[in-house]
Amino acid sequence: MTIQIAVTGAAGFIGSSLALFLARQGHQVHACDWADPTGCTPLDNPSDSTPARLRVERLRILAQTPGVHLSHFDLAEPGAFSAWAAKCQPDVVIHLAAQAGVRHSMQAPLDFVAPNLIGFAHVLDACHRQGVRRLLYASSSSVYGMRESAPFLEEDRTDRPESFYAATKQANEAMAMAYHAQYGLRSLGMRFFTVYGPRGRPDMAPFLFAQAIRRQEPITLFAKGELLRDFTYVDDTVAAVAALAGPEANWEGATVVNVGHHRPVSVNHFVTCLADQLRLAPVITYAPMQKADVKLTCASETRLLSMIGQWPDTPLEAGLSQFVNWLQEWDPLDKPA
Ligand SMILES: NC(=O)c1ccc[n+]([C@@H]2O[C@H](COP(=O)([O-])OP(=O)(O)OC[C@H]3O[C@@H](n4cnc5c(N)ncnc54)[C@H](O)[C@@H]3O)[C@@H](O)[C@H]2O)c1
Repeated sequence: MTIQIAVTGAAGFIGSSLALFLARQGHQVHACDWADPTGCTPLDNPSDSTPARLRVERLRILAQTPGVHLSHFDLAEPGAFSAWAAKCQPDVVIHLAAQAGVRHSMQAPLDFVAPNLIGFAHVLDACHRQGVRRLLYASSSSVYGMRESAPFLEEDRTDRPESFYAATKQANEAMAMAYHAQYGLRSLGMRFFTVYGPRGRPDMAPFLFAQAIRRQEPITLFAKGELLRDFTYVDDTVAAVAALAGPEANWEGATVVNVGHHRPVSVNHFVTCLADQLRLAPVITYAPMQKADVKLTCASETRLLSMIGQWPDTPLEAGLSQFVNWLQEWDPLDKPA
């Protein structure tokens, strides 16, 4: 069945892959981002770590895809999302736009206020007023804060954020619960776990590590590289999101779900696999653990499985191979990125 789906953050890493996936499934995808067709955003300054060239590539692919309808505006602008949603009349809204990045929020927490809090409030309110049947939005594994025990269960406490970024995601979950309590808005917060893959985010560890290995520059690994991360391949993530957005997904009310595999690996292991794919030896230096870093992320996937059944589980080696193939083509290193 074809449905009208609105996707925010469509020039972003996950949003662009998701919009493509949904359109290929035959849905009408109304995709928005504040990045314009030249890849520029109002934040085009050092705080925005994705180069315009990468956003342009993502937007170009979407512009060539039948069933994707692109718009650009700032979600924090009063009335902008509401007017757009009134025009596209989505059955489902998948809200992924945000200022992302734990480390960035350590330097510039205020960059997160307008997109993550005001923008989110605009999306919530428009969905309620326009009777949107289902709202899905990006939350993050970072809401679990500093933990030593695994796996992370959705009902575990999330009131001790280690970063301002995590605090905004936790606030989003609370705001969505309030809109359900007050107005009955049905919503699902998806807690993503370190997503990696082609057209990935240049500020995230997989991308930074790969570029350093390719340039034979030292990689700094914190906490002896022993931090554990539940890495998720982007195609697995978007397949799960698409299934959660579908009519068969088994969730009600306002709730949250982990979108992660319960298969954490050490950062050391991740770097070794990545270096194998690149056929180069990494140059590693170690540094103490950083404030706001968490030791471990590990999703319990029980709730996700109860909502959608099985979902794809791409092995790390296969996912990294796809990522490396894309990166080598996108940035051949003899030209500036
Ligand atoms: N990538 C991950 O591993 C990961 C992990 C946990 C949570 N998340 C969350 O998932 C979502 C998508 O992440 P991503 O990695 O694709 O990030 P991304 O930075 O690549 O994409 C976010 C997009 O939102 C857009 N945007 C930001 N502020 C906006 C505004 N005010 N108006 C309109 N558009 C705006 C950006 O231009 C960008 O294209 C984010 O909410 C992020 O916090 C991602």
